[in-house]
Amino acid sequence: MFKINCLNPIANVGMDLLTDNYERVDSFNEASALLVRSASVHDLELPSSLEAIARAGAGVNNIPLDKCAENGIVVFNTPGANANGVKEIVIATLIMISRNLVDGIKWVDSVKEDPDIAKLVEKKKSKFVGTEISGKKLGVIGLGAIGVLVANAANKLDMEVYGYDPFISVDAAWKLSKYIKHSKSLDEIFRECDFITVHVPATDQTKGMFNAETFAIMKDGVKILNFSRDTLVNDDEMIEALKSGKVGRYVTDFPNPKVAAMENVIAIPHLGASTNESEDNCAVMAVQQLMDYLENGNIKNSVNYPNCDMGVCTHAGRIAINHRNIPNMLSQFTSTFANQNINIPDMINKSKGQYSLTILDIDSPSTPEIANKIREIDGVLKVRIIK
Ligand code: MLT
Repeated sequence: MFKINCLNPIANVGMDLLTDNYERVDSFNEASALLVRSASVHDLELPSSLEAIARAGAGVNNIPLDKCAENGIVVFNTPGANANGVKEIVIATLIMISRNLVDGIKWVDSVKEDPDIAKLVEKKKSKFVGTEISGKKLGVIGLGAIGVLVANAANKLDMEVYGYDPFISVDAAWKLSKYIKHSKSLDEIFRECDFITVHVPATDQTKGMFNAETFAIMKDGVKILNFSRDTLVNDDEMIEALKSGKVGRYVTDFPNPKVAAMENVIAIPHLGASTNESEDNCAVMAVQQLMDYLENGNIKNSVNYPNCDMGVCTHAGRIAINHRNIPNMLSQFTSTFANQNINIPDMINKSKGQYSLTILDIDSPSTPEIANKIREIDGVLKVRIIK
């Protein structure tokens, strides 16, 4: 029986996939797996029972990835599952800020009791004249599942789209419209574009990438959209840029007291992926990935362990080993089985950075004794009896 704890509500369509082999528990302390959306896992004591964490979403900055990897805990995310939801909100806000819709709506709200509102509207509407996005230049930083959809959709709305991603995957490159200009440097995006939207993860490398130095390269009045994470922007320097008019509008899905109070900021309560469809897609993907890992040892879309697929076990036993990616591990595993006269008809070994997963199918059911012998090997982080 696998014990699943949810740190945030996860859509029913995903939770309903869990079979009788699974029990939902209220406490994190006894869980075999954790499902999470935006709640922080950083300060939680990771219990030894914990085998995996699945994030129903793309960003994983709320999870201590290295600490999890060191404890043999596989962290999954759901890339692409909410990409359409985020694409739609980016396009919506592009148009909102071009047409001054928020200011206009707020103003109407302020005069809604006036009996002459209809006349007033016609008199004052010139205050809210906007521009069209057609023909304007949009820079898309990060061409993953979301960035590609945003770039293609903006191109269909007749924007001139520049894309930047030195790490673009082959899959994403296939999906990108041929009309997207390939920017070879961030500076080109900063220099050329009227609107900039960013779709990269929060890492040490991307921290504060929007700062006084990069604002200085941008066009006066540039409009910036951030549906990625707050840490990408240096808030104090953004405030200065907004005050001076260097940045004309800043749309952020991550309000904090500093920026939410600023004029020309459109602060949204982290709604990028908050659609019924995205929540359902993320929940289904997160739960399916978790179940395949817990039941079969297979990994798809982990951010700290490699992808690994041995299918469903058709042999008598299966053991999955999370371990360091260092020399001599495989020979120690196979000789442990050989010493017990156990045959290994099938196996797989994959690595990602410092960590590896090895799955071994054996000709007899796995026993706690053999699992314990493998646990004793230096560099082994977790051993799971799958069958
Ligand atoms: C994401 O990282 O995909 C979003 O933050 C998901 C969410 O809103 O939970």
